[in-house]
Amino acid sequence: MDNRENSYSQAFKQIAKTANSPLPLKNVLNSAAKSAAKALKAVGCSIMLLNPQREHFDIIAAYGLSDLYLRKGALKASKSLPEVLSGKLVAIFDVSQDERTQYPEAAEMEGISSVVAAPIPQRGEIIGEIRIYTREPRKFSQADTDFLTTVANIIAVSLEKNELYQILKAEHEETVTKRRKLTETPELPSSSLRPSSFGHPSEQEFAKLLDFYRIEWLYEPRSFPLARQNGKVVEMFTPDFYLPELDLYIELTTLKQSLITEKNRKLRRLRDLYPEVNIKLLNKSDYLRLLAKYGYGRLGGTKAKGMDRVLFSHTQIQRRVNALAKRVSHDYTGKKLVLVGILKGVMCFMSDLMQHITLPLNVDFMAISYYGSNNESAVKITKDLDTSIAELDVLMVEDIVDTGMTLNYVLDHLASHNPASLRVCTLLDKRVRRLIDVPLDYIGFEIPDEFVVGYGLDYLGEYRNLPFIGVLKPELIEEKGKT
Ligand code: IMP
Ligand code: MG
Repeated sequence: MDNRENSYSQAFKQIAKTANSPLPLKNVLNSAAKSAAKALKAVGCSIMLLNPQREHFDIIAAYGLSDLYLRKGALKASKSLPEVLSGKLVAIFDVSQDERTQYPEAAEMEGISSVVAAPIPQRGEIIGEIRIYTREPRKFSQADTDFLTTVANIIAVSLEKNELYQILKAEHEETVTKRRKLTETPELPSSSLRPSSFGHPSEQEFAKLLDFYRIEWLYEPRSFPLARQNGKVVEMFTPDFYLPELDLYIELTTLKQSLITEKNRKLRRLRDLYPEVNIKLLNKSDYLRLLAKYGYGRLGGTKAKGMDRVLFSHTQIQRRVNALAKRVSHDYTGKKLVLVGILKGVMCFMSDLMQHITLPLNVDFMAISYYGSNNESAVKITKDLDTSIAELDVLMVEDIVDTGMTLNYVLDHLASHNPASLRVCTLLDKRVRRLIDVPLDYIGFEIPDEFVVGYGLDYLGEYRNLPFIGVLKPELIEEKGKT
């Protein structure tokens, strides 16, 4: 027996013994992760299960990985090595170069080069996976992958054993409690990602907004030590939200200006100490304007009358749209161009843009529900494309990109229909307010953080028919809102 084989049989011995012990499942799996990593001479191992909706993976056991890496965020099942879900073993030689890596930066920080993942099968279905991480780039041998596949099978048996045990235990407890009169109400099952309470109602509202746009979030998942004395942490900062897919922390503050100064100081310190951490502060007025956009909050439901000033005149818009159309005509020569717009804001821009494009093209439209409309809890496509975009060169045309949440959602949707290419052309780019970095290929104008109307853009349904783009009088919106 060579060394490798010997270390594999030692690991099997250990894993099988623990699996058949009365230890809690958590310990069994952590021990399996450790034995597997050691046998493969790897730095780390994680064991993940699909959630019941089969949308994302939860890490249920791990070895050798930092807390930070483990918290990098929920792994989307569809994005995270989907071949594993179809029962295949997947090996990635260089995670930094492989586009299948969902969190390449996190992997790099952790010093991970190669990954091998084996599916955990149970009764003909894949219920999870086990991953091995190595520091040096590694080509996994047949013996390596056979070993991992067997460990995955032992884990599957352990999980089933645990499930049966839980069922038997629950049945037993049921008979016991039936005899006893149950007085207290049972605890509601709560997902680890959903806090039972928020520090402030605005946080709850913000969480609802993120849910609506299907943006994953964690509430206060991490505290950053800011100052230490004699080795003890004397100051900490815990941002309100972490958006794992965007690797972005968000601190929401609805505090008075005087208290914000203190918060800003802490933020500066955090950025100094943790330069790799990406954090954004949303202050009270940012937040109110975000809600007002959807007709909510203090500024919501009000009618503002009067323009403050014109940002772009009709002529300026025409000139710019013409220039964009020229570039599009040049770039899409010989391609199968289809323009896709989101109703209704885009109608003026789409109409002018297409008239200036000198190529054969098709147009199609989508409509999506708006946050706050009909009390929907998640964004929905209320009107999908009329025609197939498969193998076509799609240019997504937008009136304005603000937080990026709408576009992010729509691009995901379009990409799933296999277009030959997918690019974005937006008339306005309110870049300072971006929460999600969406790639923009053609931009008309970059605009400051102000609410604009006209040329298709509305405020609560009005002002679309203005032939120019302007800014509403802010004091009018504010004062009306107070009443
Ligand atoms: P996002 O999802 O935050 O990027 O918002 C994009 C959508 O919000 C746009 O398609 C518009 O319908 C709307 N929107 C964002 N900013 C403005 C604005 O300043 N005026 C009018 N509508 C806006
Ligand atoms: Mg729009």
